[in-house]
Amino acid sequence: HAFDAKVVAMDQYDICNLEYESMLLVVTSTFGNGDPPENGEDVNNQPNMAASAKNYINILNYRKPRKRGVLRRRFQSVTTATPIYRRVSSKQLDVSRDFDSVSQGLLANVKFAVFGLGSRAYPHFCAFAHAVDTLLGELEGERVKEIGEGDEMCGQEECFRNWAQQVFKAACDTFCLQEEVNLEDANASLKSTKFDKSNFRVTVSDVQVEPNYVETLSKMHRKKLSPCRLIRRKNLQSEKSGRSTILIQLEKKNSDVLNFQPGDHLGIYPRNDPALVKALISKIRDATDDSTVVRLEVQDEKKTFIGNFKYWDADTRLPSCTLTMAFSRFLDITTPPTPQLLKLFSECNVNEEQSTALRILGQGESEYEDWKFSNNPNLVEVLNEFPSTQVDASLLLKQLPLLQARYYSISSSPDVYPGEIHCTVSVVTYHTRGGDGPLHHGVCSSYLNSITDEEEVPCFVRMAPTFHLPTKEDAPCILVGPGTGIAPFRSFWQHRISQIQKGASKDRTMALLFGCRNPQQDHLYKDEVETAMKQGAISHAYTAFSREEGKPKQYVQDVIMNDISEFVFDLIHTRNGHFYVCGDVTMAAEVHRTLKDVLCINGGMTPEQVEEYITAMKSEDRYHEDIFG
Ligand code: 2AM
Repeated sequence: HAFDAKVVAMDQYDICNLEYESMLLVVTSTFGNGDPPENGEDVNNQPNMAASAKNYINILNYRKPRKRGVLRRRFQSVTTATPIYRRVSSKQLDVSRDFDSVSQGLLANVKFAVFGLGSRAYPHFCAFAHAVDTLLGELEGERVKEIGEGDEMCGQEECFRNWAQQVFKAACDTFCLQEEVNLEDANASLKSTKFDKSNFRVTVSDVQVEPNYVETLSKMHRKKLSPCRLIRRKNLQSEKSGRSTILIQLEKKNSDVLNFQPGDHLGIYPRNDPALVKALISKIRDATDDSTVVRLEVQDEKKTFIGNFKYWDADTRLPSCTLTMAFSRFLDITTPPTPQLLKLFSECNVNEEQSTALRILGQGESEYEDWKFSNNPNLVEVLNEFPSTQVDASLLLKQLPLLQARYYSISSSPDVYPGEIHCTVSVVTYHTRGGDGPLHHGVCSSYLNSITDEEEVPCFVRMAPTFHLPTKEDAPCILVGPGTGIAPFRSFWQHRISQIQKGASKDRTMALLFGCRNPQQDHLYKDEVETAMKQGAISHAYTAFSREEGKPKQYVQDVIMNDISEFVFDLIHTRNGHFYVCGDVTMAAEVHRTLKDVLCINGGMTPEQVEEYITAMKSEDRYHEDIFG
């Protein structure tokens, strides 16, 4: 509206330019335990950014810069904007100067605002966004608006819209642009859905061959993907448990790609449930049969329909393919539709009552949040609930979000299983509406539970910046991982086994603390742990059973406090050991609290001293967390 704005993913932005921007808006998520998000691309292509990002991070002191991967995860995206009326000329940059000496007042001419995306289910909500906001303030940038926060669990879009409106107004005030701008128009555009049906159409493609989906996903997500094939799948829980946790052994097709270290994650692009895809296609008004390759076309300025060639382009981002492939491989059909999509559904619903209900949901307010929270509806369920929606293929192909990768901690060591990657996956199923609703299946875990060895699984490795074995190989470790939290530790003990086989000493402490419900049902990797103990890779193994018949409930933190408190203290404090936690976020927070109690009780530390102690452990890279929601 009033600004010549550029939207840039951080890894595509040369951070040296920051001080020459007129205005900077940073939108960033926070993940794990207050960690910065992954930025996706490799910064190696952008040496300037790597150099100066490092300087920024030093000042930020958010986490000690240690490894290359840390740098590339600094910011998620940056919007820079220069008012059209006052564009600044860009100056020649000297990248080699000493940043610290010029950091004061560095951003004195830059206006900025930050918005954080996160989930209150996690500790340190929006912590990274706050760190960025503080940093930009410390560099004396001018904050045009206080930081905004959007909670994934509640009203995230609404919060973003409010913040964006306020920032826009504040920016117009700051640059004295009130007269040039119609605020109402600008605000309305935030709510617009940007879909004009007549601009899009789906036609039969002249190329009647489907693309290779692994290559297409690579281009779409700008990630180097490698196809893997299933070698073996094994249920790790007993039949009695009624639940499944599976070990997936994948074969790397090209073993040079997908190099990893124990502790890293495997990203997997799943495929949607074929039954759901079929049900969805049956609800599309102009759907073609399964074997017809179609393409989405968009009208250009000359009113000519074009499509197909630039499939990573914002408008025609999909290749020519069958609707089945588009909805199976490329588009997300299970995440509840956004308010914007519901608004579009209301416009093409021919029943007045349903259309009104959809419009109300499409406002994205409390009705929407309650409906989404209770039903967690996938697209098919929404179209079943509002059956008079006359949905066209072009609307869905254009509006649905892309299907995203899921991450799993790798459960094997490349030294023990060269050419393979293993994952430990809990097969997710749940009933919506607090248990009364329909059965839902986790997208990727059900996919992995159903693939055959014929199917190529699109994979990539994500480096875990703070979850590797100690560089000092004889440093003692305690590994806390209940449930599927044990996943990365299997790669740790395998690594130790291979080191011992190569001559390393067996006389090292690696203590494993696992938790599960019941020794007969879900004691994952019990036999492998016993073997690893015999081989000297694991020195101690403890287990907490939470639902063992006739026994009190025990969690891993109870074992730490009641049974091994002195051992843990000795290992961490006296022997300078490493503490690892992997698993769900609530457990990790409780284990963290318990560790503090252990330090207080055994070390006579005050709560303030304990806080400092744990901060020091983190900066010495001795406290490692790999947590998920
Ligand atoms: P529960 O299901 O009986 O509550 C792996 O999922 C194990 O972690 C199970 O034994 C589970 O117990 C336990 N668990 C659940 N919540 C936990 C928490 N907050 N802290 C530690 N362990 C937990």
